[in-house]
Amino acid sequence: MIQYAFPKNFWWGAASSGPQTEGFFNKAHLNLMDYWFKKEPEVFFNRVGPDRASEFFTRYDEDLKLIKSIGLNSFRTSIQWTRLIDDFETGKVNKEGAAFYNKLIDAFLKHGVLPVINLYHFDMPLELFQKYGGWSGEKTVDLFVLFARAAFKLFGDRVKYWTVINEPMVQPEAGWLYGFHYPNYKGKGAEAVQIMHNLALASAKTIRAFREENIKGGEIGVILNLTPAYTASDSDEDKKAGAFADDFFNNSFLDPACAGVFPPALVETLKKDGVLWKAQDGENEIFQSGKVDFLGVNYYHPKRVAARKSPLPQELRSEWTPDVYFEEYDWPQKRINPYRGWEIYPKAMYDIAINIKNKYPGLPWYVSENGMGVEGEERFMDENGVIQDDYRIDFYKEHLIYLHKAIEEGSKCFGFHAWTAFDCWSWNNAYKNRYGYISVDLESQKRTIKKSGWWIKETAKNNGF
Ligand code: GAL
Repeated sequence: MIQYAFPKNFWWGAASSGPQTEGFFNKAHLNLMDYWFKKEPEVFFNRVGPDRASEFFTRYDEDLKLIKSIGLNSFRTSIQWTRLIDDFETGKVNKEGAAFYNKLIDAFLKHGVLPVINLYHFDMPLELFQKYGGWSGEKTVDLFVLFARAAFKLFGDRVKYWTVINEPMVQPEAGWLYGFHYPNYKGKGAEAVQIMHNLALASAKTIRAFREENIKGGEIGVILNLTPAYTASDSDEDKKAGAFADDFFNNSFLDPACAGVFPPALVETLKKDGVLWKAQDGENEIFQSGKVDFLGVNYYHPKRVAARKSPLPQELRSEWTPDVYFEEYDWPQKRINPYRGWEIYPKAMYDIAINIKNKYPGLPWYVSENGMGVEGEERFMDENGVIQDDYRIDFYKEHLIYLHKAIEEGSKCFGFHAWTAFDCWSWNNAYKNRYGYISVDLESQKRTIKKSGWWIKETAKNNGF
């Protein structure tokens, strides 16, 4: 019996990205991750880099067939700027890159998998970082739009669902605030704020360009990683800390994307602290006319915060940092995924869904990533080579139950994409934590459907469980 039935035409799918699956092959340029791996391979788990990844560049046809075989009706990947474009300044297309993405999209259609195509997944071209500071520079925003236009023109006849940027917040967070992605800066708050602004602007400008291209039946959105802030207590100080953390990490992208404005309280605080971004002339109008058609939400874990009581960590003291307004709070009752160190809190799925419904009435959205990374997953392999990942099935069910409840209450969620279909490369963690419905043996590149892959097949077939 189906206890949790999902809406008609629900997307049961998965997400991944170009830089995490394709491998380098004859890519036209290096992005920052390619460069970082060349420079410091030792910071990547087991020295495994993006150069080979899961060889999606050559295996895409069999992979899409497999994706279809486990019942998924849709799949997101991204086009790499560094593969599609020859000359970033003019947007001149690289022939081989275009040929690859053409074949890839045709394969989606051949196998009956809906392509959801993203345009940026942490893959800043090295040249643009060196020349313009990457997203710190205004110029990068306009060059990105050139690339996006090229993609719309080339593939808009077949791709109807586009997303501009994946998890924009991760760029300033990982590269400028907390130093876990190249260029590994810590506490560079003012520049991080400018990057946040520029990413939001790049998104709005790309959406406007998309509408000018008049893609028949096409829709466009962004993919945001939401980490709702739950506070240590209901005290005014803690609530203030929570509101700031929500504005800085979530609403800073949600509001411009869905409502065309930045959160007023955040703008006020940044202005008062002298770190508000430099805005472009006439940008209000750009944000107003560059709102999304739909939203994608990546949800992995919540954020727990309290008002700051302890002194700022040394490495964050040199400049402004958002951490002056909150500190992380260690919730004693938390459930942790021990393999990844992230809290598991399925109820946030419901809170996110209801928040979207209340804040942006009528906005269609989908879960664009949710998943559980597990280290050393081969220990769960049975004698037939199938990974018995019951923990992953439970993880998905728990999240889906909360999502279902929110849909029943009127949240307009039209799909659930898992991270991910087949195990892929995850930045510094490389292949440490596995997330797929399908396992990938790194030596032989052999793919094997995990127990969760068989489970999702059944779930998709029944449109629920
Ligand atoms: C997400 C990100 C993905 C993947 C995933 C699991 O935040 O969008 O690229 O790395 O985390 O680590």
